[in-house]
Amino acid sequence: MKPPASSRLFHTLRALQHENPLGLPRTGTIPRMQRGLPERRKIKDVAKVVAVSSAKGGVGKSTVAANLSLAFARQGHRAGILDTDIFGPSIPTLFNLSGEPRLSLNNQLLPMSNYGVKTMSMGYLVGEDAPVVWRGLMVMKALQQLLHEVEWGGLDVLVLDLPPGTGDTQLSITQQIVLDGSVIVTTPHTLAVKDAVKGINMFKKVNVPILGLVQNMTLFNCPHCHHDTAVFGSNDKVQRVCREHGIQVLGDIPLHPSIGDDGEQGKPTVVSEPDSSRSQAFMSIAAQIGKQIGL
Ligand SMILES: Nc1ncnc2c1ncn2[C@@H]1O[C@H](COP(=O)(O)OP(=O)(O)O)[C@@H](O)[C@H]1O
Ligand SMILES: [Mg+2]
Repeated sequence: MKPPASSRLFHTLRALQHENPLGLPRTGTIPRMQRGLPERRKIKDVAKVVAVSSAKGGVGKSTVAANLSLAFARQGHRAGILDTDIFGPSIPTLFNLSGEPRLSLNNQLLPMSNYGVKTMSMGYLVGEDAPVVWRGLMVMKALQQLLHEVEWGGLDVLVLDLPPGTGDTQLSITQQIVLDGSVIVTTPHTLAVKDAVKGINMFKKVNVPILGLVQNMTLFNCPHCHHDTAVFGSNDKVQRVCREHGIQVLGDIPLHPSIGDDGEQGKPTVVSEPDSSRSQAFMSIAAQIGKQIGL
């Protein structure tokens, strides 16, 4: 008798887990060569690399990544941002940049700059609105180009804006690139926090240090009655997850219409409202990250 589909699926997943197709380490420290993984490479001419990640989309990852790169620049570092979200690039909009990047004499992509930050995005190469209907192999090829064929020309810190999820792109990046740390972004929503845990576990599995968690859209301060409201729920869940996983909360970013508007108009909060408390929140998070990675 044929087993029901659900049970077949269960056994297939079990078998895949057993085979460990992604070559993830199951325990502790098996030497890298023995696992057959490629050596992690440094991104050329870049001193420190920080990945901003969340397993969920729409939690403000790109907004946080963009503001952090701008905060690093304001703190005097040579900063860049690499948009690795091949299917949904946001950096061209957030930095108000478009057009095709030029090639260097060495045939490398030259980043485009605004507000003192160098940027590279798939959005420049295929157009932000173009639907990218690609198979895995093409995505991986595009990713390789973004990771290894950009002439950054000397950066103190590069922020990677990761796509949502814990799939091929995230694993390729974490396994191929020397990352100095990762920052997890979540909102207080129960579902977002659950997904944040997946992100935490992925970074733990691939031995990338987790620098901390940024809670975005935490409180909304009503402009009329000036009361703070936890629109998306209390931050107890985030605190608990951080305690359980030994991770620190790097800071809270409020839910504020101008954070969304600033980004969508191509001038993120750190440059459009540099003296606001919102901008200070990003600056403080960047300073803590900088301290941890030795910027
Ligand atoms: N703190 C915030 N307050 C208000 N709007 C925000 C905030 N953070 C992000 N947004 C908005 O939420 C939407 C999703 O943010 P985005 O950075 O694109 O998320 P992700 O990269 O995780 O998909 C965007 O329209 C953005 O402008
Ligand atoms: Mg994004």
